[in-house]
Amino acid sequence: MHPRHGRRRTRNCISGRTMAYSPAQDTLTHPGAEVLTSSEVSRLQALQAFNAKLVCMNVDDSSYQEVINGLHRVLGYDACALLLADPETGDLVLKASHGYPDLDPGLRLSSDDPISVHAQAYSEEYLVNIDNLFTAVGCKPLDKSFGSNLILPISGNRGPLGVIDFASRAVETFDAREISMCSMLVDQLTYSLENMRLVGELSSSRDAVIRGMALLAEIRDNHIKGHLNRICAYAGYLAGCLQERPGFREVTPAFIEMIQRAAALHDVGKVGIPDSILLKPGKLTEAEFGVMRSHTVLGAELLEDLMADFGSYGMIIMGRDVARYHHEWWDGNGYPAGVAGLDIPLSARIVAITDVYDALTSKRVYKDAWSFEDTKAEMVSKSGIQFDPELLEIFLAKPRNLERIAKKYPD
Ligand SMILES: [Fe+2]
Ligand SMILES: [Fe+2]
Repeated sequence: MHPRHGRRRTRNCISGRTMAYSPAQDTLTHPGAEVLTSSEVSRLQALQAFNAKLVCMNVDDSSYQEVINGLHRVLGYDACALLLADPETGDLVLKASHGYPDLDPGLRLSSDDPISVHAQAYSEEYLVNIDNLFTAVGCKPLDKSFGSNLILPISGNRGPLGVIDFASRAVETFDAREISMCSMLVDQLTYSLENMRLVGELSSSRDAVIRGMALLAEIRDNHIKGHLNRICAYAGYLAGCLQERPGFREVTPAFIEMIQRAAALHDVGKVGIPDSILLKPGKLTEAEFGVMRSHTVLGAELLEDLMADFGSYGMIIMGRDVARYHHEWWDGNGYPAGVAGLDIPLSARIVAITDVYDALTSKRVYKDAWSFEDTKAEMVSKSGIQFDPELLEIFLAKPRNLERIAKKYPD
């Protein structure tokens, strides 16, 4: 018998009333209230955990798996699977499953598969496949060894997001009561997926605007195609090498992700440097150098203004540090403030290395690309002077990895 068969559950058990748990009776009671059995209490706890998981859900496979595990704990069916629509093709792609030992982890149902078609057609209603209904709608169950299936579409505001499949070894498991319970949970999941999509879109547009600013500055300064992409990738690579090394506790996955975007902002302040100085072909005078050096402060101030108007968040704070400090030297002889050593933010010490490395190894109008050996010799001669010696050594240790990045983002 299916574990859920024969259960009696009163719907108003799930309410906001304060109740007391009585271990002696193994029930949850409140004067004048209905009694909750220990299994009801466990289910409420599972539901609570499921909701908590939805609140902090991320767009990644382990998050999806936790959600599916949570659904399994709340509903108790033998198997369930989450398939999300590929926004490009409309195919349904398996993201997570529970209780389906033989399911291909790379399962992809094309957009003309009956399950996909019905998910679209029934976006406002249940796509219900109870027992022989599978045959009626022409869908094949994900696993034929189960006795009954229920497939519910996950429908966002802009159309289908995917489907959830529930399966039971018993036949005729999914009556109206079960379907309503499942659809309630799937609705909650839908809100979370919609929110994640909106947040993703917002942060992509925000990143695009910020990247646009960085590109504008680069374009004015004899933009070298690929430079921004390369230094961002080099910075992410170096940060990745630092993760879990002693002394680099601040290097978390979030730090690595942020620096790959924040590095692009290093020269954003060049938008404020007059063309007569920025594009001057000959040598700059000392006064002109002073103006040129101000791109660090200008960039930091520009990002601070943005933060004042639109709020600060990790990537912009890091971008501000990178802009202000990327010409500071390890020995304190850099600009604009002459900050030294570990007082220079780690993000800026990383970008200081990757910016110079890319400048030396790239071809410019006035010079050929330097070889790795020549670049290494030049930079090592400035180790402990211009560059953080530990970071420089780690960065230059595996030239193949650097070559791979350079090849990925050519000029
Ligand atoms: Fe700069
Ligand atoms: Fe640069």
